Amino acid sequence: MKGIILAGGKGTRLYPMTKVVSKQLLPLYDKPMIYYPLSVLLLAGIRDILIISTPEDTPSFKKLLGDGARLGVSLSYKVQENPNGLAEAFILGEDFIDGDNVCLILGDNVFYGQNLTRTLREARTMVESGDAGAVIFGYPVKDPRAFGVVEFDANGKVLSIEEKPSEPKSKYAVPGLYFYDSSVCEIAKNIKPSERGELEITAVNNEYLDNGKLMALPFDRGFAWLDTGTPEGMLQAAEFIEAMQVRQGFYISCIEEIAWRRGFITHEQLMSLGEELKMTEYGEYLLSLK
Ligand code: TTP
Repeated sequence: MKGIILAGGKGTRLYPMTKVVSKQLLPLYDKPMIYYPLSVLLLAGIRDILIISTPEDTPSFKKLLGDGARLGVSLSYKVQENPNGLAEAFILGEDFIDGDNVCLILGDNVFYGQNLTRTLREARTMVESGDAGAVIFGYPVKDPRAFGVVEFDANGKVLSIEEKPSEPKSKYAVPGLYFYDSSVCEIAKNIKPSERGELEITAVNNEYLDNGKLMALPFDRGFAWLDTGTPEGMLQAAEFIEAMQVRQGFYISCIEEIAWRRGFITHEQLMSLGEELKMTEYGEYLLSLK
């Protein structure tokens, strides 16, 4: 399975912070925002990853993350000229996907909590086995009206998805994490831009829904999905990450640690990554891993 991180966009809600730099390069507490979605793909066991960003920011992502060899993965890059919508990822990424299944994650979404890896594996297996054409997730929120809202039955079969409904049919918001089978590229090429001129991910999901192939998995109580698209969202996420790391001593979304635990790199390689950063607590943390 391939992975795509969509890390473009204008970030207008974060202006003036994001006037000259992608929000996904800004820090969330102690690491750049893109580490968080990247860690989710690594946890899903995905090692072939495409990062899509703007013409201005793509060189910075390359400088930050390189070709991925240091993490034992392959990272490639593609420019999105304009923020034409999330579904454009599958048009820009068609050659990269190359007929495989694919997981898309948005560059500003943070996921953390128990059972994350298990849930990711389950979604992956559902698509790889053909039990689902696409898998999305449902995250319970107090007021779902500001979100895409998914309604699903006891088996996880999706019954409806609605964008910002005034009367939501469920309490489950749809986070920016999606698993698709190989037909997603054809589907994306055939959808029409919405009224706001974007190729909407909802249009892609609706196509799977109409074919009876869209499934949803719920995230449990106690699980954190944080959206970092606004200054408050960024601050709340940073505070959450700091509190968890200091209290428990486990780092959230430490990509080097995950690469090592997944067996993508050896302990020796991990130690040399730690050495490079040993002037920081982050580096000390890497060096402390056994
Ligand atoms: P949004 O938060 O919808 O858009 P944005 O990042 O441009 O922010 P704002 O609303 O403040 O202007 O995007 C969600 C994520 O998807 C974010 O990580 C950016 C990314 N994105 C793209 O990479 N390309 C796109 O065409 C769009 C619409 C979003």
